[in-house]
Amino acid sequence: MDILTTIASSEPAMLLRGSFWIYPLVNAAHILGIALLIGAIVPFDLRLMGLIRKGRIRTLAQVLVPTAAAGLAIAAASGALLFIVKPVEYARADLFVYKLAVIGIGLINIGWVRSNPRWAELVQKDESILNPSEPNRKLRIAGGVSIAAWVLVLILGRLTGYFM
Ligand code: HEM
Repeated sequence: MDILTTIASSEPAMLLRGSFWIYPLVNAAHILGIALLIGAIVPFDLRLMGLIRKGRIRTLAQVLVPTAAAGLAIAAASGALLFIVKPVEYARADLFVYKLAVIGIGLINIGWVRSNPRWAELVQKDESILNPSEPNRKLRIAGGVSIAAWVLVLILGRLTGYFM
């Protein structure tokens, strides 16, 4: 708890609380990050799951994976700034703690996808134009887990703001 009260009385936290413009702009950056993350990951995961069959995964990954990664980085950086405004209150809010836990699940799922040998085949070595490779069962499941996790993070994030 000590560390949280120290964070709450830090210079950046006081700046965020005291300024008319900075907090809403950081909030807007958070929404931008969320939009990039969800906007890129939903079509990519649907393709991974096989619910969308069009488009080579390798080509889609070249655009959508960096877009989602940039969105996650923006959401994480701006989210950390939003957090320091009321760290004690957020740490006590169940919905916020659930949100961090589901972010953890989303990140573990990314690690699971990347450790799958089929992933490397799909995004790096798939040179076949006529018969492009398709994801295996584990990757299709990971696509479903990914959509569920990130959409749940979005809902928990909105609910945290709504109920606090
Ligand atoms: C990665 C670290 C993240 C942290 C530390 C974080 C933290 C926060 C904080 C402190 C708030 C303010 C809640 C309030 O209004 O009182 C917030 C809002 C929100 N977050 Fe995050 N967040 C993170 C990532 C994400 C991600 C990845 C998503 C979506 C997939 C997300 C979705 C939301 C939403 C929808 C809101 C409500 C925005 C609004 O209604 O103005 N957050 N977040």
